[in-house]
Amino acid sequence: MKDENIVWHNHPVDKAIRSDMKKQRPCLLWFTGLSGSGKSTIAGAVEHKLALRQQHTYLMDGDNVRHRLCKDLGFSETDRVENIRRVGEVANLMIDAGLIVLTAFISPFRENRDMVRAMLGEGEFIEVFIDTPIEECERRDPKGLYKKARAGQIKDFTGIDSPYESPESAEIHILNVGVAVEDAADQVIAYLESNGYLKPVKEACHATAG
Ligand code: ADX
Repeated sequence: MKDENIVWHNHPVDKAIRSDMKKQRPCLLWFTGLSGSGKSTIAGAVEHKLALRQQHTYLMDGDNVRHRLCKDLGFSETDRVENIRRVGEVANLMIDAGLIVLTAFISPFRENRDMVRAMLGEGEFIEVFIDTPIEECERRDPKGLYKKARAGQIKDFTGIDSPYESPESAEIHILNVGVAVEDAADQVIAYLESNGYLKPVKEACHATAG
């Protein structure tokens, strides 16, 4: 076994201490959906709302991560699985640091998303399905990629010639057609509040004032 000489070291400062200092319960909001579905936009709006509430966050986004950490990866099934594995591992470290992490990746394979869920502790993985029909994503086509994929200039494009497996029981399901970004983001915040990840604003203000 290649890691038989590697021993895990437990350091005195742990996840509980780090998250207590930040006065928050760390978790991973895993946004999944087609290209152009609105994942990054909604995740950005959620992060903004969390920042206004003094929560410590970090947002990882598919296009950005593919410029650096995953710049050696393409869009074959193997590369997409490796992309999500790396992002899951990085998110896991950030959770250990006590952060509320948001990720926006197509992450088309159910098994691959469940692999990230399994890396984390109970209740730490919150799947957010941005459910926008392909016809609508293609109509929006914010980066002009659907047009290129239809013209055969991009291959293995999700929804065209590469599959997308919808979540079957995502914690948060947002049908993102005719919904304002703010309202979609509020749906995520409401989930966090009602499941004990965040204090309701009134209570949080009271605690600060007191
Ligand atoms: S994932 O499938 O591995 O999760 P990821 O979210 O990192 O994908 O990257 C998707 C982004 O890369 C899309 O939003 C789009 O801008 C761009 N992209 C480039 N080529 C493709 C492709 N073949 N399929 C899907 N997205 C692509």
